[in-house]
Amino acid sequence: MEAPMPPGACRSIAQFEKLRKIGEGTYGSVFMARDRASARLVALKRVKIRTSGFEREGMPTTALREIGLLRSLPAHENVVRLHEVAVGSRMDAIFLVFEYCEHDVARLLDWMRTPFSTSEVKCLMLQLFEAVAHLHEHHVIHRDLKLSNLLLTAGGVLKLCDFGLARPLAAPASAAPQPLTAKVVTLWYRAPELLLGERAYTSAIDDWALGCILGELLLHRPLMPGASEPDQLRLMCELLGSPSERIWPGLGALPHARSVALPTQPYNELETRFRGTRELSRGALALLNALLTYDPRRRCGARAALGHAFFAEAPPAKARALLPTFPTLHNLADAPEPGKPAAGAANAAAVRGHKRPALGGAAAGGEGTGRAGAASGKSARAGGS
Ligand SMILES: Nc1ncnc2c1ncn2[C@@H]1O[C@H](COP(=O)(O)OP(=O)(O)OP(=O)(O)O)[C@@H](O)[C@H]1O
Ligand SMILES: [Mg+2]
Repeated sequence: MEAPMPPGACRSIAQFEKLRKIGEGTYGSVFMARDRASARLVALKRVKIRTSGFEREGMPTTALREIGLLRSLPAHENVVRLHEVAVGSRMDAIFLVFEYCEHDVARLLDWMRTPFSTSEVKCLMLQLFEAVAHLHEHHVIHRDLKLSNLLLTAGGVLKLCDFGLARPLAAPASAAPQPLTAKVVTLWYRAPELLLGERAYTSAIDDWALGCILGELLLHRPLMPGASEPDQLRLMCELLGSPSERIWPGLGALPHARSVALPTQPYNELETRFRGTRELSRGALALLNALLTYDPRRRCGARAALGHAFFAEAPPAKARALLPTFPTLHNLADAPEPGKPAAGAANAAAVRGHKRPALGGAAAGGEGTGRAGAASGKSARAGGS
C-alpha cells in the first residue's frame, strides 16, 4: 500500500500515463490518462505556467479560480469532480486531474444525425438545471455555459465542467454590487444585458445561456449563432422580438443602449423557428420563453425551471441509464479533432457553416473566428472581474 501524501502535496505528472489528447482549451490541452497507482481513467487539464519572457505571469487566474471554486463548492454529481492537482516534471505546468467523462455534449450533437428525442432532452436538462441551481445556491456564477462545457458519462450522467470563468457572487443583500467584466460567456449564449454592457449582472446570465442550450438541444443546431456582438443582438431580436422599456424596465439606461441600434421586430418567432425539426409542446415553448426573457429580474432561474410544466407533460424524461449509448468520441480513430466536427457526420453546425466559438470568438468574422478569436476573450479569462 502506498504511503499517504502529506497534506497540500501534489503528485508528479509522471504518475499518470497519458493516453490521448481529448480537448483543446483556451489555456491548455486536455488529455485522457490513467492513474498508474489506481488504474482509474482521468482527464488531465494542462495549465501552462509562464516562467519567462514578456508575458511572464505565473499561474493563470483562470486555473486558480477553477481550482479554488471547485475545491470550495460542495460536491454534486452533476458537477465534474476535481480529484487533485499534479505538477509537471519541469515545474512549467500544472495539471488539474478530473474524473474522466466519455463525451462532451457539443461533439455529441455535432456527430449525431438525428436530434435527441424530447424525453432525452428532458433527461439532460433536468441534470443541467440541478447543476446550475447548485452553483447559484452556493453563490457561484459559471459565466461560460455552453454545450462543450457539458460532459456526459457512459452511464448518462451529465457533468458541468470548465470553471475557468466562474466566480463567486456578492451576497444578494450587498448594497453596491461589484462591477464585473461584461466580456463573459461565449457569444451564442451571451445574455442581452451583457451585450448591452451591463456590469452589475447577476446569475441570470447563466439562465439565459440555459435557454440557448435547451433551444439548441431541441433544434439540433445553435439557436442564435451570431458572428459578432451586433449580429448576436440582431438574431435575438429576430427570434424573440425587440425588447422595449415596457417589457424590460431599465433597458434604456444600460451602457450601450444609446449606441446600439436594435432592429424593430414586434413578433416572437420561437415557435416558427422549430417548424420542420419538431413541433414544440406548450411546455417547451413556455420554458424557452421563460429562460429567454429579456429582463434578467423576470427571467426563470434554474431551480424554478426544475419545477416547470415542461417536465410534467408527456413524454416523461428518459431515465439516465436508458439514454442511447454513443461511441466514445474521445476514443474513436476518426473522432473529430477537438473543436472540429466529425468527418461524414450530419453535423448540424458545420452544415450551416457555423464553427462553435470559444469565449470572445465568433462563428465568422466580427470578433474573430473560433479559438483564434478567443484571444479577445482572454482579458476576461486572464483575470479581470
Ligand atoms: N473531465 C473531462 N472528461 C472528458 N473530457 C473532458 C473533461 N474535461 C474537459 N474535457 C474535454 O476538453 C474540452 C476542454 O476542456 P475545458 O472546457 O475545461 O477547457 P477550457 O480551456 O476552459 O476550454 P474552452 O476555452 O474551450 O472553454 C472540453 O470541451 C471536453 O471536450
Ligand atoms: Mg470549455
